[in-house]
Amino acid sequence: MLNINETVSVEINQKIALICLDNPPVNAASQSLRNGLQKALIWASSQNGIGVIVIYGAGCTFVAGADIKEFGKPPLAPFLPDLVNEIEKIEIPLISVLHGTALGGGLEIALGTHARVGIIGLKVGLPEIHLGLLPGAGGTQRAPRLCGIPAALDMILSGKHIHAEDALEMGLIDKLYDGQPRDVALQAAQEVLIGQLETRRTDQIFAKSHHAHIDKVEAKLIKTHSHLFSPHKCVQAVRACLLPIAEGLHVERQAFEECMQTPQRAALIHVFFGERSVSRIPESKIAPRPVAHIGIIGAGTMGSGIATACLLAGLRVTLIENVQESLNKGRAKIEQNLNGSVKRGKLHAEKLPRTQSLLQPALGIEALDQVDLVVEAAFEDMNVKKEIFKELDSVCKPGAILASNTSYLDINEIAAVTSRPQDVIGLHFFSPAHVMRLLEIVVGRKTDPTVTATGFTLAKKLRKVGVKAGVCDGFIGNRLLAHYRKTAAYLVLDGAQPQQVDQALEDFGFAMGPHKVTDLAGLDIDWMNRKRKAPTRPKEERYSGEIADRICENGWFGRKTGQGYYLYEGRDVHTNPDIDVIINAERKKAGINVQKFNNKEIVKRYMTAMISEAVRVLEEQIAARPLDVDMVLVFGYGFPRHRGGPLHYADTLGPQELINRIETYAKEDSHYWRVPDMLRQMASDGTKFSDFNEKVAVWT
Ligand code: 3HC
Repeated sequence: MLNINETVSVEINQKIALICLDNPPVNAASQSLRNGLQKALIWASSQNGIGVIVIYGAGCTFVAGADIKEFGKPPLAPFLPDLVNEIEKIEIPLISVLHGTALGGGLEIALGTHARVGIIGLKVGLPEIHLGLLPGAGGTQRAPRLCGIPAALDMILSGKHIHAEDALEMGLIDKLYDGQPRDVALQAAQEVLIGQLETRRTDQIFAKSHHAHIDKVEAKLIKTHSHLFSPHKCVQAVRACLLPIAEGLHVERQAFEECMQTPQRAALIHVFFGERSVSRIPESKIAPRPVAHIGIIGAGTMGSGIATACLLAGLRVTLIENVQESLNKGRAKIEQNLNGSVKRGKLHAEKLPRTQSLLQPALGIEALDQVDLVVEAAFEDMNVKKEIFKELDSVCKPGAILASNTSYLDINEIAAVTSRPQDVIGLHFFSPAHVMRLLEIVVGRKTDPTVTATGFTLAKKLRKVGVKAGVCDGFIGNRLLAHYRKTAAYLVLDGAQPQQVDQALEDFGFAMGPHKVTDLAGLDIDWMNRKRKAPTRPKEERYSGEIADRICENGWFGRKTGQGYYLYEGRDVHTNPDIDVIINAERKKAGINVQKFNNKEIVKRYMTAMISEAVRVLEEQIAARPLDVDMVLVFGYGFPRHRGGPLHYADTLGPQELINRIETYAKEDSHYWRVPDMLRQMASDGTKFSDFNEKVAVWT
C-alpha cells in the first residue's frame, strides 16, 4: 500500500491497481483528494503489467461531491473538471466502485471512469442546484450521454438522490453488487480482466437530440423559477451536450463560473452549512436523556401533526385528549397523515401497520406515567398550560421531560408551577408538524442542559432543524413575525393594497405574502394575540390591527371560513372586494394621507423591519448567533432560501445602509423604527453578521 498523501492511497494486487479515497466524513473532493487522486492515477498507470485501475471510497460513502467549503475562495489546482477529463483519457481500463452516496463532483468523477459499479444501498445524484450551482465537472455533458437528455435534465433540475436500482436501469451505473467496497473493487476488476464487465469512455457516446423537450422544460422554468439563476444555466449547459464534448464542457464551465459568482450561490451554501451548524451549541457535548416513548397532550392539528412526526421516527406515542370524540378525530387525522406519507414516499407501505401500532390514544393525563417526554399541545392560554403542567408534575415519572409546544408563552412561568423546572422546556413545532422542518427549542432559566441536549437529539430523530431560543414573547420566529407583520399592516393602512404587498414579497422570493400566510394560519390567532398584548402595548406604539380587527369582527378568519384578505372557493383564490371597503373606511377614520409605495419600497421596509428585530433578538441573546435566526426564518417562515435568511441578507446590504433606512423611516414613526445599538457598533468597527457565526453566546 502506497500512501500518496493524507487522503489517497494505492495498492497493487497482481494486475489490479486499487485507488482508495479516504477523506472523512464524506470523502469530499477537496484539493488534497484531487491532488492525491491525480498523482495516484499517474503512478498506477506507469506501473508495469497493470490491466485495470479501480477507484473506490473508504468509510461510509464514495465521494459526496466537491468540497463545498472551498467554494467562494480562490480555486486550487488540480481542478475537478480537468481531473475528470484526465481520468477519462487514461488508456488502461479504469472503473469506479460506488457505495453510500456518489453525489455532484463524486458522481462526475465516476462518469469519467470507463465503467461504474454500485453497491446495494447506493444513491447517486447531481444536487448542485440546491447550492445555486450546476454540475461543473462534466455532469451536464456525460449524464445525458449515458441516460438520455430527459432523464439527465430531470436529475439535474430536481437535484434528487436516485436509488441504485433506478440508476442501473437508467444506465448511470453498469452493475450492482453486494459487499464491501474493496472486495467489490477486486471482484469487478477481475471481471473487467476476463471480459465479463465491459468498459467504454463516456465521451465517445452521443446524446440523442431532444430539443423539443429542452424547450418545454425551459419555458416551464421561465414561468416557475424566473427568480433563480442556476436552473436556467443547467438547461443551457445540458443543451450543449449535443455539441462535441470539448465544446459542451466549455459551455458548462462558463455557466458554472457564472453561478459561482452569484449571491444566490453564497446564500444557499450559507443555508447548507447553517442547517448543520445550528445544533453546535455548548449542550451538544452533553449526553441526552433516553427518549423512546412520547406523550402528546391535545389531538388537534398541532398535536396530531407532532404525533405523526414522532411515529414516522419510530417512537411510541401516547396521545391524550379529554373527550373520546376529540381523540377519535385526532386519531383519524394521524391515519390520514400517515397514509399521505406513504403516498409521498416518506413511509414504505409495508411499514405502515407497524407505525400505526406505535400509537396509543388515551383519555386523561394519568396515562402518561411512563413516558420519557411529554409535548403539551393544548390551547394557547397560560392558565390552561399551568393546570396541565401541575398535573404532569404529579403524574410523570422522575426525569421525564415536560415540554410545551407554546408559540409565545413564558416557559419560565409554566415551569414555575412544577416541582421540577429543570425538566421543563419549550418545543415549538410548526404546522403541519410532520412536514415543517423547524423546531424551536426554547430553553428556560432553570432548564437542565441534559434536557436541552435531548431536545436537539429529538429534533435530529424527527429529521428537523432544531434551533435554540431564549424565552421572550414569541421566541425567535414569532417575535420577528409579530414585528415585521406590523410593517405590512402599516403599509396597507398608509396606501398599499394587501395583494400588492403579497406580490412584492413573493417576487422577492417568499413562498407566500404575509396576508396569504395570515389567511392560511387564521386571522383569529393574531386577533387573540393582539387582545392578549393590548394591556401592555406602549402608548407610543402606532396600532397596526385596525383593518385586521374589522375583518375578524365580521367572522372572516381566512381560508377556514372561506373569506379573509382573499376569497376562497375550493382551490380558487380571488381578491376580496369587501376588504377595500374596510381599508378605505379605516384610512378615513385615522385621517391618513394615502401614499403610493412601489414594490421595491415595500420589500425595503419589510426586510429592514425584520432585520432590526433580528438584531434585537441577538442583542438580548434570545438567539445565539445570526445563523440561528436565519435557520428559523428559512425552515419555519418561508423565507427565500436563495437569500440565506434575514441576517445573511443584511450582510449584503451592510450596516450603514440599514441605519440610513431606519433613520429615514423613523421620521414617520420614531417608536417603531429605532436603530439597534449593535448595528451602529458594526458600522463603526466594520464587522458583518457572518463574523459572529463562529461565536456561541451562552444564556445567563
Ligand atoms: N463538502 C464539504 N463538506 C461536506 C460535503 C461536501 N460536499 N458534504 C457533506 N459535508 C459535511 C457536512 O457539512 C457535515 O459536516 P459537519 O459534521 O462538520 O457538520 C458532514 O460532512 C456530514 O454531512 P451531513 O451531516 O449532511 O451527513 P448526512 O449523512 O446527513 O448526509 C450527504 C450526507 C447526503 C452526503 C449530505 O452531506 C449532502 O447532501 N452533502 C452535499 C452533497 C452535495 O451537494 N454535493 C455536491 C457538491 S457541489 C459539487 O460537487 C460541484 C461539482 O459539480 C463541481
